[in-house]
Amino acid sequence: MPRLQITTCSPAETEKLGVCVGSLLQPGSFLALRGGLGGGKTCLTRGVVAVVAPESSGLVASPTYAIMNCYPGSTPVYHFDFYRLTCDDDIVELGFEDYFYGDGVCVVEWSERLTELMPPDVLTLLFEYGGDERRLITISSSGQKSDNILVRLADLLQMQKKL
Ligand SMILES: Nc1ncnc2c1ncn2[C@@H]1O[C@H](COP(=O)(O)OP(=O)(O)OP(=O)(O)O)[C@@H](O)[C@H]1O
Ligand SMILES: [Mg+2]
Repeated sequence: MPRLQITTCSPAETEKLGVCVGSLLQPGSFLALRGGLGGGKTCLTRGVVAVVAPESSGLVASPTYAIMNCYPGSTPVYHFDFYRLTCDDDIVELGFEDYFYGDGVCVVEWSERLTELMPPDVLTLLFEYGGDERRLITISSSGQKSDNILVRLADLLQMQKKL
């Protein structure tokens, strides 16, 4: 499985990575965000929304209690936080599965709660602490569409380094 490892040194850098990722997404893209509390998942989502649904930027907040926030835009962003859910059944009961295959972009915090329901074409971002404000973010993909996004993301980040 192809993967990309990035270290960010501030919340602003993580948000900027979200902008890069967001600029490559299409309707139907699915971002699975994994890793512990305070890892930077919501922070990265802010960057994604800034570019995919700019009319909603400023609205991004962790949907821990609501479980899902919808950010309207020409491509809407569905932002989930499954921290409080225990299994796929909860997700089916809440009727969230339909969003996974809709025309919006799905961003799912605590995607490790998904088992059978995890769509086959997914870009996965794992957030790990690297001390102080460092976060190690490992990005991997499964499925043709997400594989392509990962390749283009590697190019984009490489290009930005040169600027
Ligand atoms: N490099 C960094 N990237 C992102 N956030 C950072 C970084 N360094 C420090 N932080 C801080 O870590 C916290 C990240 O919070 P955030 O809400 O994005 O985490 P989260 O992964 O969504 O957590 P939760 O699982 O509770 O929803 C913020 O307080 C932010 O200021
Ligand atoms: Mg969060």
